[in-house]
Amino acid sequence: MNQKEIVLSGIRPTGNLHLGNYFGAVKNFVKMQETNECFFFIADYHSLTTHPKPKDLQGNVRQVLIEYLAAGLDIEKSTLYLQSDLPETAELYLFLNMNAYLGELERVTTFKEKARKQPNNVNAGLLTYPTLMAADIIIHKAHKVPVGKDQEQNLEMTRTFARRFNHMYGLEYFPIPTAYNFGEQLVKIPGLDGSGKMGKSEGEGNAIFLNDEPKVLKKKIMRAVTDSGPTQMNQEKPEAIQNLFTLMEVLSSPDTVEYFDDQYNKCTIRYGDLKKQLAEDVIQFTEPFRQKIKELSSNDAIIQKVMDIGAEKARVSAQRTIKEVREIIGFRKIH
Ligand code: TYM
Repeated sequence: MNQKEIVLSGIRPTGNLHLGNYFGAVKNFVKMQETNECFFFIADYHSLTTHPKPKDLQGNVRQVLIEYLAAGLDIEKSTLYLQSDLPETAELYLFLNMNAYLGELERVTTFKEKARKQPNNVNAGLLTYPTLMAADIIIHKAHKVPVGKDQEQNLEMTRTFARRFNHMYGLEYFPIPTAYNFGEQLVKIPGLDGSGKMGKSEGEGNAIFLNDEPKVLKKKIMRAVTDSGPTQMNQEKPEAIQNLFTLMEVLSSPDTVEYFDDQYNKCTIRYGDLKKQLAEDVIQFTEPFRQKIKELSSNDAIIQKVMDIGAEKARVSAQRTIKEVREIIGFRKIH
C-alpha cells in the first residue's frame, strides 16, 4: 500500500514564471517530489477567465511546461499534466458548485479584486474559481498543496468544500488538504515597483522572470522604485525598500544582506550599490534556468512525451475518484 502523502499544485499558463512563482511554489514542488506522490499541473481551464486566444493559450502552456522541467520537475518523480487533459476535474467542479454558495464565493478577496480591476468581465468562471481549484486538489485526494501566500484563501475554500462534501454524505471521503511551504510560513515575493507582490499581470518592470536576459534583468532592477534614503539611524524601512531587502534575503548571501542592512541603519546606504549587487545575484541565480529553458525550447518531442505520460498517469487517479464520487452522490444506482 502506498503510504506517501499526496501533494498537488498548479500554475496558470498566463506568461513566463517569475521569482514569485518560483519561491512561492515551484521550489517546493522540486523538493517535495523527492519524498511524496506528487501531481503538478498547468491550470489551463482556469486561464480561460481572461479569454486568451487559442494560439496564446497553447504557447503559454508549452512555456510553463518547459519552465517546470527547467526548474527541476522530473517525470520519473512527479506526474506533470494539463488540467484540460482531465475532464474528470470539470465534472467534480460541477458537483461541488451545487454546494458552493454565492455569498461565500463573492466574499473571496481575489474575486473582489478581479471584479474591481475588470468590471466588464466578471464572469461565472471567475466567481467559481475556488470550486474549480478545490476540484483540482481533491480529485487526487491531495493532503498538501504547496502555494504562495496569495492562494491561502482559495485553499481555505477547498477545505470548506471538502468538509462539506464529507459531511453531506456522512463520510470521511476527502482528506482536508493544507497549504504548504517547506516547514515555514507561506511566502509573498514582492515586485520591483514599490508595492504589493510580484505578479505576471502587474505593471511593466514589476516581475523578474526566470527567462529574462541578463541585460533586461539589470535594467529592471536598476529601475526599481526606491526613495531618497534614510534620514534617521535605524529607521523602519518603507515598503519599496523593504521589498528590495526581501528579494535579497531569498537570493543573496546572508553576509550581503547584513552589509546593506547595516549601511541602511547607519544612513550610509547607496541604493545604486544595493541594486547592482541584487542584479548580480539575480543573474547568477536565474542564468542556469535560462540556459535550460533555451535547451528545452527546441525539443518538441520531449514536450509532447511529457504531456502524454502525465495525462495518462493523472487520469488513473482522477477516474478512480470520480467513479467513487458518482456512486457516493447516488448516480447509477443499480435497482
Ligand atoms: P498562479 O498561476 O497565480 O501562481 C502560481 C503559484 O505561484 C505563487 N505565486 C507567488 N508566491 C509568492 N509570491 C508571489 N509574488 C507569487 N506570485 C505567485 C502562487 O501562490 C501559486 O502557488 N489559482 C492558482 C492556480 C491553481 C492551483 C490549483 C494551485 C489552480 N488550481 C490547485 C494549487 C492547487 C493560481 O492562479 O496560481
